[in-house]
Amino acid sequence: MAFDLEQSYLDLIQTGVGGGLSKVSQPPFSKDELARARALTRRVRARFATEVRALKKNKLQLPEAALTTLRGLLLHFEAEDVARLLRINSPSAQTLLGPEALTSLRNCARQAIWLRVPGDFMECGTWRGGACILMRAVQNVLGAGTRRRTWVVDSFAGLPQPEGLADAVLHAFLKEAGSFAVSLEEVQENFARYGLLDDGVQFLPGWFADTLPHWQGQLALLRLDGDWYESTYTALESLYDKVSWGGFIIIDDYHPVIGAYDAVNDFRTARDITDPMVKVDNQIHFWRKLPPNN
Ligand SMILES: C[S@@+](CC[C@H](N)C(=O)[O-])C[C@H]1O[C@@H](n2cnc3c(N)ncnc32)[C@H](O)[C@@H]1O
Repeated sequence: MAFDLEQSYLDLIQTGVGGGLSKVSQPPFSKDELARARALTRRVRARFATEVRALKKNKLQLPEAALTTLRGLLLHFEAEDVARLLRINSPSAQTLLGPEALTSLRNCARQAIWLRVPGDFMECGTWRGGACILMRAVQNVLGAGTRRRTWVVDSFAGLPQPEGLADAVLHAFLKEAGSFAVSLEEVQENFARYGLLDDGVQFLPGWFADTLPHWQGQLALLRLDGDWYESTYTALESLYDKVSWGGFIIIDDYHPVIGAYDAVNDFRTARDITDPMVKVDNQIHFWRKLPPNN
């Protein structure tokens, strides 16, 4: 079999950026980690004591999906679950995406180029930038790097305080792990490590609500990974009309535990979007924006 240089290059980048939450690479939790996780769980439960009491008495008036989430986070979260969250910021990876998610992203990016869907690529919610690094690598290796840009959009100061109760409880846990705060300089350094910090990489720092409504351009691929309801809805509202026909909309957090799930469902209902969702794993989904009457 002939050596496929393009595939080998992208495999290398993918392996380099990946592995953030891979269970395989996780050593067992130490006693200190578990003690820290238990202490955090106690603090979060104390902070949401009213909700914990109401949950136990079945008196919280919320949709069943939200109640399931809250029961999981506030009543049933084990020390190992919390310890895993606390490890999120370990410096071993530039993305939280696992191998399947990265392979799927790479395939979407390649298809967008092969199918000549007009526009740039963008990720809203980038953390250390790994998914964007892979997206830029695909553009460059397929010879599209001078015609298409990769937009890296983030507060570069971590997650904002969310409004919904379930998001707020999850945030109370994530805050202890730094709320995904990574500076713009650190993300730029990560691009540079792979030789990919070039003029086609554009950074859009700030809160989505401040930056995205003013963004001008066209997108062939939009990846949303901002977790919360408001972050996701704002991004869809600001950018959906800028995605070309045939473009890819990838939602990282399409899981009932995370506010993004309701945001996507509400947006699709509001805009009457029926393009089929493709499931990548138990969280990530994407759809292609098909022209009317397709
Ligand atoms: C789960 S992390 C993203 C993970 C990343 N895509 C990866 O490949 O590992 C969520 C990111 O969204 C950003 N974020 C969430 N809501 C935001 C908002 N409203 N404005 C700006 N950044 C936001 C956070 O700063 C954080 O970096």
